[in-house]
Amino acid sequence: MTEQKTILRALNGETLPVPPIWMMRQAGRYLPEYRATREKAGDFLSLCYNPELAAEVTLQPIRRYGFDAAILFADILLVPQALGLDLWFVTGEGPRLSTATTAAEVAALKSVEDIHETLSPVYETVRILSGALPSETTLIGFAGAPWTVATYMIAGRGTPDQAPAHALMQEDRATFEALLDRVTEATIVYLSAQIDAGAEVVKIFDSWAGSLTGADFDKYAVEPARRITAALKARYPHIPVIGFPRGAGEAYVGFAKTTGVDCVALDQGVDPDWAAAHVQVDGCVQGNLAPEHMVTGGQALVDATHAVVKAFSKGPHIFNLGHGITPDADPDNVQLMIDTVRAGK
Ligand code: CP3
Repeated sequence: MTEQKTILRALNGETLPVPPIWMMRQAGRYLPEYRATREKAGDFLSLCYNPELAAEVTLQPIRRYGFDAAILFADILLVPQALGLDLWFVTGEGPRLSTATTAAEVAALKSVEDIHETLSPVYETVRILSGALPSETTLIGFAGAPWTVATYMIAGRGTPDQAPAHALMQEDRATFEALLDRVTEATIVYLSAQIDAGAEVVKIFDSWAGSLTGADFDKYAVEPARRITAALKARYPHIPVIGFPRGAGEAYVGFAKTTGVDCVALDQGVDPDWAAAHVQVDGCVQGNLAPEHMVTGGQALVDATHAVVKAFSKGPHIFNLGHGITPDADPDNVQLMIDTVRAGK
């Protein structure tokens, strides 16, 4: 009876007495069991491509905390790798990629049908999880949004302001748009394969949406999300889609309507009471406790958790952080957050 899973009920627009909970980066370095499995795998990418171990780290936070959803363990940068770019992670610094910034380099990317060669272990992870999760736990698949993924493919690394991507947009818009287009098509194919393997919900992470403004936000954050959602809905009308245009600010208003997503994930930069009035009026929202509370804990965590739960209590809400939990978080603070949410108002 999948319809009774709390996350799916909230995504269907139901207001629940206690919001279901999961947490971005819930499988991660703040957990000793994650660090042990990552060690066993060798490195982060080997962990992503090892279905047994990737399924194991996905399950760890479910066993420890009983979250209402599990998110597939993988990374948004596997798609650029599947399109033919080199990808590696530098310890303590983050991702590095070979780049695609010229018309020739974009044209030389692999065709979207060929991404499965690289990504099939991810689908196997989804299949394992689909059979291994408790019956009440929802399995969430994901991909990066085209803009966010493209910022890494253009800069070859994470950048504080996405300047290289903005520069390419200004200097060679045709190449920039060709790149976005290829990533958009690949994302549709990738998320479809995750759904075929057993993902019950998919989430599109646009972590750098906040650096797009005005018409650029509409063209490069809203439009790709709309295209991906429309393509998925045509094939899988009952699979909910969560959009996460992180940092969108006032542009969160109307995002669900214009893109067709079933739920908008809010970062901690928006006030919960404001978001309840202006975003939740259109449907389910997810969020948005500041991840710093998972480091600092105490009464401030309890008060801020209450404030988020209360603000969103009159409509469909999935409790989450506003961004991923950080490696320096204390696992006990996660339990305190969950206990606070589940104890009610
Ligand atoms: O949320 C989850 O638990 C699911 C798995 C997941 C990971 N990355 C695992 C991961 C998801 C959904 C992501 C998304 C992701 N990856 C995003 C978008 C969301 C966001 O956080 O804004 C981005 C921008 C990336 C790219 C990426 N991956 C960066 C910049 C880094 C390095 C930063 C860091 O935290 O070290 C990663 C590595 C990464 N992805 C880790 C994990 C658990 C840490 C890797 C490790 O074990 O060393």
